Amino acid sequence: MKILFVTPEIHPLAKTGGLGDVSRSLPLALRKAGLDVRVLLPGYRSVMARIGAAQTVCTLDALAPIWSPARLLEARLPETDLPLWVVDCPTLYDRPGTPYQDPDGRDWDDNALRFGFLCHVAAWLGAAPAPLSWSPDTVHCNDWQAGLVPALLRLRGGRARSVTTIHNLAFQGNFDPLWVSRLGLPTESFHMHGLEFYGRLSFLKAGITYADRITTVSPRYAREIQTPEFGCGLDGLLRHRSDDLAGILNGIDDTWNPARDPVLPAPFDARRLVAGKNLNKAALQKSCRLEAGPDLPLAGLVSRLTYQKGIDLLLDALPELMALPLQLAVLGSGDADVERRLQEAARAYPGRMSVALDFDEPLSHRIIAGSDLFLMPSRFEPCGLAQMYAMTYGTPPVVRETGGLADTVVDCREDTLQTGQATGFTFREETPGALAATVRRAVATYGTRKSWRTLQKTGMRRDFSWKQAAVHYVDIYRALAPAV
Ligand code: ADP
Ligand code: GLC
Repeated sequence: MKILFVTPEIHPLAKTGGLGDVSRSLPLALRKAGLDVRVLLPGYRSVMARIGAAQTVCTLDALAPIWSPARLLEARLPETDLPLWVVDCPTLYDRPGTPYQDPDGRDWDDNALRFGFLCHVAAWLGAAPAPLSWSPDTVHCNDWQAGLVPALLRLRGGRARSVTTIHNLAFQGNFDPLWVSRLGLPTESFHMHGLEFYGRLSFLKAGITYADRITTVSPRYAREIQTPEFGCGLDGLLRHRSDDLAGILNGIDDTWNPARDPVLPAPFDARRLVAGKNLNKAALQKSCRLEAGPDLPLAGLVSRLTYQKGIDLLLDALPELMALPLQLAVLGSGDADVERRLQEAARAYPGRMSVALDFDEPLSHRIIAGSDLFLMPSRFEPCGLAQMYAMTYGTPPVVRETGGLADTVVDCREDTLQTGQATGFTFREETPGALAATVRRAVATYGTRKSWRTLQKTGMRRDFSWKQAAVHYVDIYRALAPAV
């Protein structure tokens, strides 16, 4: 089976969150399962700088003159054999900033064009007749940035089938309706059962409406998004398509393995747990200018700083949290207001709380390894990878019971601890008080060394690999026999 995996990010070339990790690890797992997978992504500046010797597959000038000059390049993801097809179009992608925003944190005002073009290239590759000798049976489209692919394939009679994966329903790619004709979409499809969403062109709605199958990244989130509370206005459509919708829990790969993590001061595993954790914790306390001390529990947080992640709940809970014997190491970037409040808090609690406002991959590993607890008080969480990394690194997470967090973390209670199931601490209410009470519970358990070790080791033993998920995706692709 030939699969074209279309994504706006891939670690380590371009990453703003979990999608970057999944876009690397899932295609690698699918290739291990014997599938012929290629990843299609935009040639951002960071991508072009790191792909090294790339070969030109073809020019893309035939697609539309306003996008020229553009080429399709073939390369490999560094240190893997994963084939990348990179859309090299300097006018759209050769810029500073993140994949979606300029260096001041504003969305690029031509994002409709930047990702519309990516979609056109993908749909062209899956068209009938096939333009190249390699042509996909299925195009696997990730998030809104790939949402127009299923629409283009369906409305223009493509050969390939399509799967849309929703990593986050809150990001929809909704644009001025002028883009319908500018992007060469059929204007007769701009209606509420097609491309239109509250008067705008919606990339994600297009992806959900026209895909042959829809997936999202945890079973719980698959149920949640069919309710008005989590549906972001698309719950009706998702209920309508529920027979074609599946929730498949993400996995994690060997990039996150505490025994073989090159950026850790002291790699460790479950057998060298205490000594290993202590060394990583001491190094982290030193580098973050936290007071030294192996016995004071240290809570880590690594996150995009947005409403979704509930960082304001943490900020509001700080007086209660700082009344506990507890240190806090935060790494994140995002909303200006949350960044400012975090900085003020770090100043208010010197030696107890450190804040790095940055996107720093090595530091994220060192925080997850060196902390005792990991905080993830998300309001909603489609899957969440960071809590799985934390469990794998012997750092029990404190999470809100929502989405993939609810599917992956087992709350520590007397019974779950005794039966060897507990892996962290969960709370339901979306309040600072509920978060603080749960951290208090975690700190109390930390004081009982035997229980704590059991909790850590259970988390480290959990199988979060891609094996099971890969089988689900293969089943879905298989069920979509090519439309000849
Ligand atoms: P989301 O995709 O919603 O951001 P996930 O938990 O699925 O949440 O994935 C987040 C990923 O991004 C993890 O790999 C996490 O370590 C990483 N990450 C988030 N913020 C930062 C940051 N400031 N620096 C480095 N890595 C970060
Ligand atoms: C999104 C979600 C996150 C998920 C990630 C990868 O960014 O917010 O929960 O883990 O995608 O699927």
